[in-house]
Order: sequence, then structure tokens, then C-alpha cells
Amino acid sequence: MTTPTELDLTRASTFVEHDAHAFWRDVRKHRPVYWHDGDPGFWVVARHADVLACYTDVRSLSSARGTVLDVLLSGGDSAGGQMLAVTDRPRHRELRNLMLRAFSPRVLGTVEEKVVERTSRLIRTVTRRGRFDFAADVAEHIPMNTICDLLSVPEADREKLLRWNKLALSSDDAEADRLDSLEARNEIIGYFMDVARHRRSDPGDDMISMIATAEAGGRPLTLEEVALNCYSLVLGGDESSRVSAICAVKAFAEHPAQWQALREGTAALDTAVEEVLRWATPAMHFARTATRDLRIGDRQVRAGDIVTLWNTSANNDEEVFDRPRRFDPARSPNKHLSFGHGPHFCVGAFLGRAELRALLSALVESVAEIEVCGEPAPIYSNFLNGHASLPVAFH
Ligand code: HEM
Repeated sequence: MTTPTELDLTRASTFVEHDAHAFWRDVRKHRPVYWHDGDPGFWVVARHADVLACYTDVRSLSSARGTVLDVLLSGGDSAGGQMLAVTDRPRHRELRNLMLRAFSPRVLGTVEEKVVERTSRLIRTVTRRGRFDFAADVAEHIPMNTICDLLSVPEADREKLLRWNKLALSSDDAEADRLDSLEARNEIIGYFMDVARHRRSDPGDDMISMIATAEAGGRPLTLEEVALNCYSLVLGGDESSRVSAICAVKAFAEHPAQWQALREGTAALDTAVEEVLRWATPAMHFARTATRDLRIGDRQVRAGDIVTLWNTSANNDEEVFDRPRRFDPARSPNKHLSFGHGPHFCVGAFLGRAELRALLSALVESVAEIEVCGEPAPIYSNFLNGHASLPVAFH
């Protein structure tokens, strides 16, 4: 692994081939906001303070053309203005209020109970097995089932949703085809359009029925809007939670003293969850498009420019985190930006945290030592950070 002075942030393999942390340290120090050449090029924002300010400045920085670099470079997000994450005010506020109503404490409480029950069952099963792949045998089964519980998706459909979603977002394969990824995304939206149509005519008390029959801004959502906003939960909630669970196990396996601290209660479960989120930074960046000229740091950004906000750098900014490359489950305060910030702050943060808490709690109860017993397979992506497999044994 080399420590480069220049990285091509558009390539999926960049983050597998290089030590990006050394790169970001250098960027934060010498050129915290810089222009990345390309066709089109884009701004790169690396410091915590600047990333935070950009997340907050929704007047100058729009989400509606897309929020992921790849999507913006290939012409923008066709769901813009319809799907929560890629919508600006005032529509964003209307959609977000509707979604937040659907995330009622009663619904979340029931889903969390199922997460705790499912996670401890999975951990008990694999612990008896000796060596296994934590990604395939545990991590893969938690987030998608959580979102499907939230949306009342039938068990029989869950496997294919997971497969499509893996294709739509990232890949374990360096040569992944962009067309496959678009096709998978269309499959998911088509699936939810069908479900939404049925539930609109025959509603139950699940989240899709609620979104399909509620009004936002004085009118019901179109079927496509319902489908896109269900998809946004799958998109937002599956892979990010999955890679953070994998990262949690890998981090504690590589830091046995910290694992003992957690088991003995020297480090609290809640601070450990936050440190795992910082350490994992599942979404390496989010992106915006400038709607007017603005200054970011000491650089002048023009209307129409793409601006990328690198959470992975912000979460390791020495100005905010003491010894950032130290994995410290007792770290407090921990102002990581893994869930973003401001008006688009992750609506699933409660569930993301609940999933990690359930995992750590189940592990603390039954696992004395975590051993990584093979080479983990990396994910090839410039968006999603982490591993696609993790061979381990729990002792
Ligand atoms: C937004 C990360 C879990 C659904 C976001 C954003 C981040 C993020 C960084 C802000 C995007 C932006 O500013 O453009 C994560 C991480 C998770 C996680 C790291 C797990 C560890 C979830 C879950 C769900 C979810 C479980 C659904 C149940 C969403 C949605 C948005 C969002 C719908 C868009 C919110 C908006 O634009 O108002 N997430 N997320 N996320 N997340 Fe999550």
C-alpha cells in the first residue's frame, strides 16, 4: 500500500489500493478545499468544520441533482425532487415530515425489539460453528430484515431485494458494470411500485401503507414517489448498517484490549457504538451542487459546481478528534459526521445505532475473543467503505 500525494477519487479501486488516511491527512493540512480535475471536475472538502458548514448550507448547496459523486458525474439522479435524500426545500421538508411521522416511537420500538432478538439468535448460532464469514452469516441478515420489518415486506421477497441492492450500490468486484447497477435500481423501484399499488387500495398499519395513503404538501404522493421513498430506506439503511457491523467486529478483533474494556464495562456500549460509526464511516462522501457562488474555506465555488463532502476525512480531523487513528470505544465527545448533519441528517440514525448496539451487546454476552482467520474481501467503491467478507471465529 502506497501513500500517494494525488488520488483519483472517481475510481472504485482507489480506496482499496491506497492508504487514503495518509492522503486525507495531507489534504487537510495543505489544501483542505481543492478542485479535482475531471470531466466534469469537482470540489473536494476535507476538514470537519467545512464539511459541517456545507451540510448545513442547504440554500447554496442542493441535493436535488444527486448526492453521490458517481451519479452526479454521470448526469444526475433521475429521482431528484421525488426521493427524500435528493430533494431540496420546500419539498424536502414536506417529505421528511411525512417520513418522520411513519417512524413513530411505537413502530421503532417494535422494530428494535426484533433487531435485538434476531441479532442475539444469529450470534448464538454462529458462535457454536467455529470459523464462519461474519458478513454473509450475520451482517447480511440484520439491516435488510430491519427495513423489511419496518415496511412489512414478506420474507419471501427479502433475498432478492438484498441481491439487487448490493448490485445497485457497490460491488465486491473491481470490474462491476454500471448498467447492472442501474438495472438493479429499477428492479427495486418496480417492486415497490407494485407493493404501493396494492397497499394503497388495501392499506394495513405498516409503513408503506402509511406513506401510500398520507399527504405531503396538500396531495398524496404519486405511486412512483412512494416507491422511491421506500427505496430510499433500503438504499440508506442496508449497506451502511451492514458495513458498520462488519467494521465493528473487525475493529474489536484487531484491538483486543479495547474488546476487553467493553466486556468489563470500562467502555460503555453507547460510546462504543459512536466510535464504531466514526471508525467505519460507511458513507465516505456525500455530494451537492452549488446553486449560487459561495466561498468554502478559502476557495471560491461557482454556481453549478459539484461539491463533495468527505466524511471519511472529517471523521479523522485532528482539529476535532484527539489521535483520530486510535480506535477508542470510550471516546467522548465524538462529533463524527457518519450520519451527516443538518436538514438531511440520516432519518434512520436511531435504527442504525440500535442495530450496532444490539450486535455489541450480543457479542459482549457470549464472546470472549474475536479472531479474524482469513483475508477480508474489500468493497470496491468510492462511496461505501468497508468489507464484503470477514472470515472469523468467536471464542
Ligand atoms: C441520510 C448515513 C442508516 C435512511 C443519511 C445521510 C448519511 C447517512 C450520511 C445524509 C446524506 C446527505 O446529507 O445527503 C447512514 C449510516 C447508517 C444509516 C452510516 C448506518 C450505520 C440508515 C437507516 C435508514 C437510513 C437504517 C433507514 C431505515 C436514510 C434516509 C436518508 C439518510 C432516507 C435521507 C434523509 C434526508 O435526506 O432527509 N444517512 N445511514 N439510513 N438515511 Fe441514513
